[in-house]
Amino acid sequence: MSSLEGKVALVTGGSRSLGKSVALTLAARGADVLITYRSAKGEADETVSEIRDLGRRAVALSVDLSGESAGELVTAVAAALGESFDGAKLDFLINNAGINSQVPFSKVSLDELNKVFQVNYAAPFMLTQGLLPHMADGGRIVYIGSGTGRFVVPTMSAYGPLKAAVETLARYVAAEVGPRNMTANAVSPGMLDTAFNKEGMESHPEVTDYITGMTALNRLGKPDDVCGVIAFLCSPEAKFVTGQRIEVSGGIYL
Ligand SMILES: NC(=O)c1ccc[n+]([C@@H]2O[C@H](COP(=O)([O-])OP(=O)(O)OC[C@H]3O[C@@H](n4cnc5c(N)ncnc54)[C@H](OP(=O)(O)O)[C@@H]3O)[C@@H](O)[C@H]2O)c1
Repeated sequence: MSSLEGKVALVTGGSRSLGKSVALTLAARGADVLITYRSAKGEADETVSEIRDLGRRAVALSVDLSGESAGELVTAVAAALGESFDGAKLDFLINNAGINSQVPFSKVSLDELNKVFQVNYAAPFMLTQGLLPHMADGGRIVYIGSGTGRFVVPTMSAYGPLKAAVETLARYVAAEVGPRNMTANAVSPGMLDTAFNKEGMESHPEVTDYITGMTALNRLGKPDDVCGVIAFLCSPEAKFVTGQRIEVSGGIYL
């Protein structure tokens, strides 16, 4: 795949798991990377240091996207581009930060629903809107959807439909940014073996077994299974791929 040298990426939630894997993959292919995180400063600093070890520039910005803070993040990204990236524009926006929600439908509170909406839908929407003026023509936007946008997991009624909404947002944004030769796509993992699922995997190992059994490749996903597809969407080879939902789930619920 062609080099991404000279490009600048923003990966939200880049401190660990899938976001970290994407940040390191883009850096390994030549891109400089800004990551965001909520509170895990140690993990964010470690990711920055690993990106710098690859010879790329890196900065970590802390923001809690569960409030209405996307605007603050846009301001911080614009300042960081000026201070640490020679005033470059962003080439890649990877809307990865997200939270899990596993509550039976009858018990989902409005607070829970609002929290999931803020982090998993409103933040990517408002970040995209705010960052577009700071993005280079020809740029790439990737949203992280979910298998649960396609199939039903009973305890994920607050989460799955909003991931489906993010996947649809990718199509709307693709139409919006096409005239600037930019693309927007959604990459949708199945169940990943990350901190995101730790609690559920520990308390309900039978669910993990069930999901594995329903997956053609017969295992959970790892960040490494997904990050290359996201990097591909940032590559010159993917210049004509836009408005798509690409499921990277090992073939779950086929
Ligand atoms: N894991 C799965 O099975 C799975 C399946 C399908 C889709 N996805 C999606 O894939 C994406 C990444 O998942 P993951 O498994 O890598 O998750 P993860 O291990 O929980 O990492 C989440 C990342 O997002 C950040 N973050 C969480 N809440 C935030 C908030 N309120 N404000 C700002 N940043 C916040 C975290 O920062 P801190 O570390 O500082 O908290 C961390 O960097 C998410 O969009 C998720 O919905 C995951």
